Amino acid sequence: MIDNETKERIIAAAKIEEVVGDFVKLHRSGANLKGLCPFHEEKTPSFMVSPSKNICKCFGCGKGGTPINFIMEKEHLTFPEALRYLADKYHIEIKEKELTSEEMKAQSMRESMMQVNKFAAEYFVNTLWNTDEGQSVGLSYLRGRGISDAMIKKFKIGYCPDRYTAFYDEAIKSGFDPKVLTEVGLCSKGEKHTTDRFRGRVIFPVHSISGREVAFGGRALKTDERTAKYVNSPESLIYHKSNELYGIYFAKNEIVKKDNVYLVEGYTDVTSLHQSGIENVVASSGTSLTYGQINMIHRFTSNITVLYDGDSAGIKASLRGIDMLLEQNMNVKVLLLPDGEDPDSFARSRNASELIEYMEKNQKDFIAFKSELALTEAGNDPIKRSNLINEILRSISVIPDEIKRSVYIQDCQTRFGIKLETLTQSVKNIIAEKNQNAKPQKALEETAPKKDLPYTYLQERELLKHIINFALVPIEFITPDEVIKVSVVEYVAYMKENGIISFSYDLHNKIWDFILESESGDLRNEFLNHANKEIQDYTFSLVEDKYEIHKETVDYTPEQLSLKLSSIIPQLVFGLELRIVEGRLKEVKNSISIASRVPGADEQIISLLKEQSELNAKKKQVAADLANCKLKRLEV
Ligand code: CTP
Ligand code: MN
Repeated sequence: MIDNETKERIIAAAKIEEVVGDFVKLHRSGANLKGLCPFHEEKTPSFMVSPSKNICKCFGCGKGGTPINFIMEKEHLTFPEALRYLADKYHIEIKEKELTSEEMKAQSMRESMMQVNKFAAEYFVNTLWNTDEGQSVGLSYLRGRGISDAMIKKFKIGYCPDRYTAFYDEAIKSGFDPKVLTEVGLCSKGEKHTTDRFRGRVIFPVHSISGREVAFGGRALKTDERTAKYVNSPESLIYHKSNELYGIYFAKNEIVKKDNVYLVEGYTDVTSLHQSGIENVVASSGTSLTYGQINMIHRFTSNITVLYDGDSAGIKASLRGIDMLLEQNMNVKVLLLPDGEDPDSFARSRNASELIEYMEKNQKDFIAFKSELALTEAGNDPIKRSNLINEILRSISVIPDEIKRSVYIQDCQTRFGIKLETLTQSVKNIIAEKNQNAKPQKALEETAPKKDLPYTYLQERELLKHIINFALVPIEFITPDEVIKVSVVEYVAYMKENGIISFSYDLHNKIWDFILESESGDLRNEFLNHANKEIQDYTFSLVEDKYEIHKETVDYTPEQLSLKLSSIIPQLVFGLELRIVEGRLKEVKNSISIASRVPGADEQIISLLKEQSELNAKKKQVAADLANCKLKRLEV
């Protein structure tokens, strides 16, 4: 973690006009500066920069803020990443907070590794363009493959001389520590000598999301059984393969703009698609996707198109990756390329518009893809057929979004000619089975915040987030004799007044009071501009999870939204109720175990035991209510 003093120095140093000026051409306009907004398309400038206030704001789309806000938004960085970006820009050395001497060592090792990688990347690029060997071997190989000079420069592709220690010698001459060179994997320690890992190879640097070189991939120039086609940097303090995606730094803006990402396998697939004008593309570098990588993608979009090579060998192995994507609520499409083609060869053999047309026309929903694949294989064998249908239903059952699930179930109905109720029931069963096996609240607990927050904090927060975003959306309220429509706020107010739920966290109660007082329906806006700074900041963090709620719902019609919330809001309410009961149950159990060690507390123990059994019964009932409203929507 960056220490506070450094944080303050960065914040003090960052001048809004300089930070914005790196991205936007600014013109004076009175005391302020003005330019074209980098967040939306426009022809007349409405992006204002105020040096005196050190903030910026677009009067068209409303985006802007402090220099940090701007960088976070523009470069899609987290807060600490944005701080590091600015530290880099202003040459501020980052001091890390409260580190033990072990951590300090690791930290300075990290920084040295970053430095040496930066040096290496420049060295490789320089070697490629400015040495005889680089030009005649490396550059001619790349050009021969049809990679344009522009792409070679953009992706900072380089070349490492085919001598044992050419790079090593250069790095040592520039004062780098041999230990760092081997730790980061640029050189390998042999029995006698330390040698360059990437010698005689064309180098693809792997850039982190903020554009730093965290690793390299070296492509052999000859195809030879005995040499590996690619040699990659090893895992290190700065490189965790499972958390990086090749190309993300160059793709992120376009991914947001297109609200879609193409996933390919290799380095050259990425560069070739870029060359054809398709820039929203990243590569998993030949391994199967990880949750870390999916999370990274999810910061930018919920829509992914997976490109598969024309040979079907890898497809089956990759199907698991599709389920992981579905589970993370990504919308998955699949594009199968013609036999023998990979995205690289395919992109090079046609022009941009043909390419885009082909991709648009041939990408399939994962379910269509999986079914077609399954059905060709199963033919008319009834057992195989039913196994495969079951497998598809399993995929559907991992999708968290209920509306999406029911759409896919309907698709299966048409596709396989099986009754809707049968399919729905099967999916229900799979989900119920999984819920039984899964630990409750797992997802929430993983992100559980600090200890001093109440036990129900996350459930309360999640509910408030929905209230603030969807205050006046009408939802169904099922009473014993009728179904009426009430607003989200009214529904929650009813549940609170009747003692079904309450908030334990002070700030949540404060916010709830303001919700009740609010006159406009636009709580989102009202809270983001709230006079109370604490509330403003907190709600900002609530609405910030943009992909979580907002992205997902923008495409819904009012009816769909109402339908979805009719199930989600009760789920959140019962989820909170369940958590309250579980919390109380914990306390009671604890009291029982304390009381049983105190002589003469029998009466107290009896009353605690009684409460415990009541709570257990209640817990069962609430859990059933919760399960019920989770499943109910499947029937719609
Ligand atoms: N890969 C690797 N090591 C290998 C082979 C492949 O790390 N020995 C990774 C690389 O990231 C590579 C990706 O897997 O980009 C896909 O492999 P492949 O399709 O074989 O390579 P291409 O990217 O197509 O490379 P080229 O076009 O140069 O053959
Ligand atoms: Mn290839």
